[in-house]
Amino acid sequence: MFSPQRQGGDSVDRTALWWLRTWALGALFLATVEGAMLLKASEAPGPAALSILTVTASGVLALLLFRDVPRLSLPRAPRAPGAHALYALMATAHEGLWLLDASGATVFANARLAAMLGLDESRLRGRCATDFLAENSADDLATVLAPGAFRSGIARDLCYRRADGQLGWAIVSGRPADAGLGLPEGTLLLLTDITERKKAELALAALKADLETRIRLRTADLTRANEQLRTEMGVRLEAELAKAESDLRLHEIMSTLPIALFLKDPTSRITMMNAACEEAFGVPLEHANAVDQRLPPGLRGRYLQADQRAFRQRGLVTSEEPIWNHTREEFRRHVTYKKPVFHPDGSPAYLICLSVDIEERKRTEEALASSLAQLRQLTGHLETIKDEERRRIASLIHDDLGQNLLALKLEVGQLHIRTAHHPTAFARRVAGAVTTIDASLRAVRSIINDLHPSTLELGLVAALEWLLGRFRMRSDVATTLNVSGGEGEDLDRRITSAIFRAVEESLNNVQQHAAARNVRVRLNIYHFMVGVTVEDDGSGIRDKHPRGFGLRGIHERARALNGWVKVDSTPGVGTRLRMMLPRVLPVPDAGPEAEVVEDGRPGAGASAASASLCGAGAAAASR
Ligand SMILES: Nc1ncnc2c1ncn2[C@@H]1O[C@H](COP(=O)(O)OP(=O)(O)O)[C@@H](O)[C@H]1O
Ligand SMILES: [Mg+2]
Repeated sequence: MFSPQRQGGDSVDRTALWWLRTWALGALFLATVEGAMLLKASEAPGPAALSILTVTASGVLALLLFRDVPRLSLPRAPRAPGAHALYALMATAHEGLWLLDASGATVFANARLAAMLGLDESRLRGRCATDFLAENSADDLATVLAPGAFRSGIARDLCYRRADGQLGWAIVSGRPADAGLGLPEGTLLLLTDITERKKAELALAALKADLETRIRLRTADLTRANEQLRTEMGVRLEAELAKAESDLRLHEIMSTLPIALFLKDPTSRITMMNAACEEAFGVPLEHANAVDQRLPPGLRGRYLQADQRAFRQRGLVTSEEPIWNHTREEFRRHVTYKKPVFHPDGSPAYLICLSVDIEERKRTEEALASSLAQLRQLTGHLETIKDEERRRIASLIHDDLGQNLLALKLEVGQLHIRTAHHPTAFARRVAGAVTTIDASLRAVRSIINDLHPSTLELGLVAALEWLLGRFRMRSDVATTLNVSGGEGEDLDRRITSAIFRAVEESLNNVQQHAAARNVRVRLNIYHFMVGVTVEDDGSGIRDKHPRGFGLRGIHERARALNGWVKVDSTPGVGTRLRMMLPRVLPVPDAGPEAEVVEDGRPGAGASAASASLCGAGAAAASR
């Protein structure tokens, strides 16, 4: 549409310019010649100077005209009458006015338009409008400038490029120019500068884009967070469901638990009880604390102390305490386990309490302990009876059989003396009878000694010496006896007997099991206690739990007399048995005493029997 051919308008302007310049130079020349002639002809300098001034003024005017020709020449389009007023009006308009000829070349541009395009008005003339268009707006302008476009009232936002290269925007509207307006054939454009608005719009659009980007990012963030929240909520919901389920299970377990379980707050108020606990306390939860308040202060204080101890120690506390059963109206003993739970800040939260009814167990234990005590008493009683019985039998054998044998020996001895010088068969039979009677007497002595060693009547030390002597005779083991604190003549017969039997059994064990080379017996008689130790250097006890009755009997004897026994043994090193008995003994049972009294000869006969049958030599030999 617009072609860059601008020769038409340009040739008109150039012709006018040529004429104007010619006219100006001619006028200057004429003025100069006239001035010189006037100066030469004039006598008076005044008029000559005036003429020179006039000529100079004309020249200056001509020069000015010469300089201003281009500006003055702009509106030199063919003008209809009144067109001057229109141009003057357009020149002062606040909007850009751009008159283009049919080829799109500039015929007229007002000052506002020149300012918008950043060019002097004079330099705009003849320039094609498309020179100033930014590329992206060329189509738009083409649309604007299409023939008859403005007849349909098109107005466009166009982007233009200023002379300094910057971009500007304008709303472009227009109308066809024609001779009717006093304008040349072409287009008259009206440009309203909207650069600032556009810049603001662009900045706004950039901001909007930035905002949208941010919103998009934020929305994405929020969507992600939302997703995460949903996932977390799902997980939480699942956890809550699982917790509810596990709470339910826990509740079921607790309610079916046969052990009393209850919770207490830090002030020791019961906050939860299971069924077994309600059964144990004999009250439902809603009355538990009220019943608790009615308990004796001492008992309540005991419960409180255990609670506070658990919180203080921050760990499990076990206590045995009587618990009042409200329904049965009785105290039953319980073992209560209290475990404190704390808040995250460390303050006490609650106590988990487990209470186990041990009343039945306690009663059984007590019954067992009582029967054990009775058993021990019985054992002691039996040992005493056994000793007394042995003594009685020994006495009977001595007094009856022994005396008869002695009498028989005396009689047969007399007979033997008389028949000894007659080597008859009768004499030989008498000699045989004497030998048999002697053997029987020795056997009786041995039985009596086994039943009740006669040396016991001489005191514990004497009895132990006799025992060790006998032991040496039947084994290769070297023996030592250390005694401290006296001879033990004044010791209670039960103590003497218990120690004697313990040493006797220990020596038997050494002989049977130890394969020892030495055995040492120490007897310590203190003011209140009597102790004996039997120590060997043998093989030691190999079996961790020996099953024999020898050691057990020693233990039982000691327990019956309120004493104790300790056996230490190291395999390959030896065995040591220690027995300690108090000298103050428990009151003996009536049974054995009565029996002894009934017998009428509590050991006296036996002692006499031992003395006479075994003779002083027997006791001496035993040492
Ligand atoms: N001095 C000892 N040296 C080695 N072993 C011993 C000794 N005393 C006891 N024992 C072991 O202890 C067990 C139990 O001894 P005891 O109660 O006297 O029963 P018993 O002698 O009838 O076996 C013996 O069988 C033996 O194995
Ligand atoms: Mg034994």
